[in-house]
Amino acid sequence: MTQTTAGGPQHVAIIMDGNGRWATSRGRPRLFGHHAGARRVKEIVTACPDLGVKYLTIFAFSTENWKRTQTEVSGLMTLFRRFIVRETRGLVNEGVRVRFIGDRVQLDKKLVKLMDELEAVTEGNDRVHLTVALNYGGRDEVARATRRLAQDVASGNLEPDDINEETLPKYLDTCVLPDPDLVIRTSGEARISNFLLWQSAYAEYEFIDTLWPDFSRDIFGHIVGKFSGRNRRFGGASV
Ligand code: IPE
Ligand code: IPE
Ligand code: MG
Repeated sequence: MTQTTAGGPQHVAIIMDGNGRWATSRGRPRLFGHHAGARRVKEIVTACPDLGVKYLTIFAFSTENWKRTQTEVSGLMTLFRRFIVRETRGLVNEGVRVRFIGDRVQLDKKLVKLMDELEAVTEGNDRVHLTVALNYGGRDEVARATRRLAQDVASGNLEPDDINEETLPKYLDTCVLPDPDLVIRTSGEARISNFLLWQSAYAEYEFIDTLWPDFSRDIFGHIVGKFSGRNRRFGGASV
């Protein structure tokens, strides 16, 4: 199963990191960096069709990010609400289908309503599939999936012998998405911080020093272009 990536990545996932440091280095509050980071999202989403990227998944807020100060957390939640309200029309017009992954139970009801509405209003779109990971953690996702899977076993809808690599991911938040081909993390940290643990088993990784608010369409294009030269073996032997 050796595969040289003749084409570009179909699905790119991004850990958008470095907003806080970007703001701090300018003597500004961390939320200033988050606002600058949000502006980059639009630019990167609109770059996808030209780069042949059909699926873009972005890490916006992790299940661990609740540990931050109340000011930062509530500022981020307000930013997410405003982002949805402000960008809905543009996303619809650009043919972007939006989905959210993560646990919605802990999120503010007003925010969840906006998320549901954005998913519904973009449901017919197919040009770019944007997935936003909000209150997302890979371990939490696997735990929630396992809970639902166990319920199906308990109710007799699933046989334990039928649990395998094909059936288990149907219970994940990402059940309708292909696995990411390329995961990019900005800001110089070389870790995945609980992002898409199951799905990225064979992803290519790119860790770059650029802070997220400085991540441009050109940098994105360069990284996507580099991907094509990689030899993905999926455990097979090199040819
Ligand atoms: C990423 O930037 C955005 C979120 C995690 C919400 P950070 O806020 O983690 O920025 P740094 O890592 O502190 O610079
Ligand atoms: C990962 O960044 C989460 C998001 C980008 C939303 P963090 O800044 O939270 O990760 P750590 O704490 O450096 O691992
Ligand atoms: Mg960070």
